[in-house]
Amino acid sequence: MTWSVTPGRPSTTDHACEKSAGAGGEGGVMVRRMHISECRAEDVVLLDQHLPSGGTTSFHARRFVRHTAGSSTYLVAWNDGCPVGNGEVRWNGCSAPEVQAAFPDCPEINGLHVAEPLRGTGIGTALIRRAERLAGQRSTRTIGLGVDDHGNPRAAALYTRLGYRPTVRYVDRRSYIDRDGIEHHVEDPCVFLVKELTPDTVDADGRRSRIY
Ligand SMILES: CC(C)(COP(=O)(O)OP(=O)(O)OC[C@H]1O[C@@H](n2cnc3c(N)ncnc32)[C@H](O)[C@@H]1OP(=O)(O)O)[C@@H](O)C(=O)NCCC(=O)NCCS
Repeated sequence: MTWSVTPGRPSTTDHACEKSAGAGGEGGVMVRRMHISECRAEDVVLLDQHLPSGGTTSFHARRFVRHTAGSSTYLVAWNDGCPVGNGEVRWNGCSAPEVQAAFPDCPEINGLHVAEPLRGTGIGTALIRRAERLAGQRSTRTIGLGVDDHGNPRAAALYTRLGYRPTVRYVDRRSYIDRDGIEHHVEDPCVFLVKELTPDTVDADGRRSRIY
């Protein structure tokens, strides 16, 4: 698959891309023009419509509260005016005590999610790239993310390809209330992956991209 980058894109845009001819045929979904922006108040309703939370509480709304407070940056990927992916950069790092102890100054990419029909089309990579660039602009030297590498090997493979390396193992604990009002507590064994951010980072395709 190849992407063409549209010249003269707006400054809020990370990638403005079109799939090459032939993509999106037979069962495929066409990604016409994708861009990434920071979440605005009015985006939360659209996020809830198109990428709904599993439970009763909108996690988009919770992330937007942190975004507004400045403790995180909530990124939204858009395709033809619809939100198709999201990811949050948590500037205070991973909340797990084991990770905080080992990496107190390492922001975390959290809540990375792409709409199912569009997975594998580069949106997740674009969200990660934007997060890395934002971290670089803050002169942060590392960025990390947690993954259940046994339960989610494809995601782990993507992060490895993008230069993330395994460090601390921890248990990711979270809870939510489902639509029937039942509270669920989830515990996922995870590994925290860390990437060193350098001015010249080589991306997954071997291209050099300045992220600072
Ligand atoms: C993981 C995820 C965010 C990656 O985003 P993406 O847009 O699909 O990723 P890209 O297109 O940039 O890169 C494709 C790579 O992502 C990885 N990937 C993980 N899950 C995938 C899926 N369901 N479909 C396609 N690719 C997936 C693979 O390594 C894939 O490469 P491959 O096709 O060579 O196997 C996305 O697939 C997703 O939302 N998955 C479900 C939620 C999730 O697992 N979140 C991450 C928690 S740590």
